Amino acid sequence: MPIPVERIRRVVSLRDVVQPFDAVRLGYDRIGSRYREWSGTGPVRLQWVARLLDELRPGSVILDLGCGPGEPATRLLSERHRVIGVDASFVQLSLARKAAPAAMLVQADMTRFALRNSTVDAVASFYALGHVPSQLHAPLFASIANWLRPGGVLVTSTPVGAGDGIESDWLGVDMFFGGIGPQATRNAVNAAGLRIEAFEAVDEDEGDGHIVRFNWLIARKPNKE
Ligand SMILES: C[S@@+](CC[C@H](N)C(=O)[O-])C[C@H]1O[C@@H](n2cnc3c(N)ncnc32)[C@H](O)[C@@H]1O
Repeated sequence: MPIPVERIRRVVSLRDVVQPFDAVRLGYDRIGSRYREWSGTGPVRLQWVARLLDELRPGSVILDLGCGPGEPATRLLSERHRVIGVDASFVQLSLARKAAPAAMLVQADMTRFALRNSTVDAVASFYALGHVPSQLHAPLFASIANWLRPGGVLVTSTPVGAGDGIESDWLGVDMFFGGIGPQATRNAVNAAGLRIEAFEAVDEDEGDGHIVRFNWLIARKPNKE
């Protein structure tokens, strides 16, 4: 006897069967340019882009993890440097192609991305680590440490919350969020062999009076002795 469709819906919802990466990828494909319109003009990210630019010699190689629509960060970084932008969402990458035509753009999962060790001068990741499942944060910091050249720098925002979950109706879609919180983030960065140079809690107005906090981080791979 066939199972009534209503019963199937109750037993299996989309949230139960979709992997976090696919939820993020499909979500950002559906969000399209709404994310850029909502977040593109915030001042905080610009300050951290400027801090990263201060660290680098012209022509440096920067890996931009979760580059999204590329506006403004990938665009500004690629004006003076060679940028590899990695993102899950084809739609976001299509927007980044227009914003930062000089950047090399790759559709991939940053937690499974493969790059030779010691090949990039900097890793940037703005507002993207909060979509990474909690158990993958520490391995991702370890990969970043491997990808950086000695003396290379990581600049990123990290989520303040710990745990994994789906938020309903985030910019109109069900969106996956994951984090490990500030102390575990510091521990994971240290364990990866990176030296933390800045770790600052920064509050931001999302534009509608709703304040969100991220921990912004600068960490460096030590030069060889
Ligand atoms: C909040 S947006 C940030 C975009 C951009 N960095 C910025 O500052 O506006 C997060 C981006 O990270 C991407 N992303 C999230 N998890 C990812 C993963 N595991 N691999 C690659 N991209 C991912 C999403 O597709 C999305 O475009």
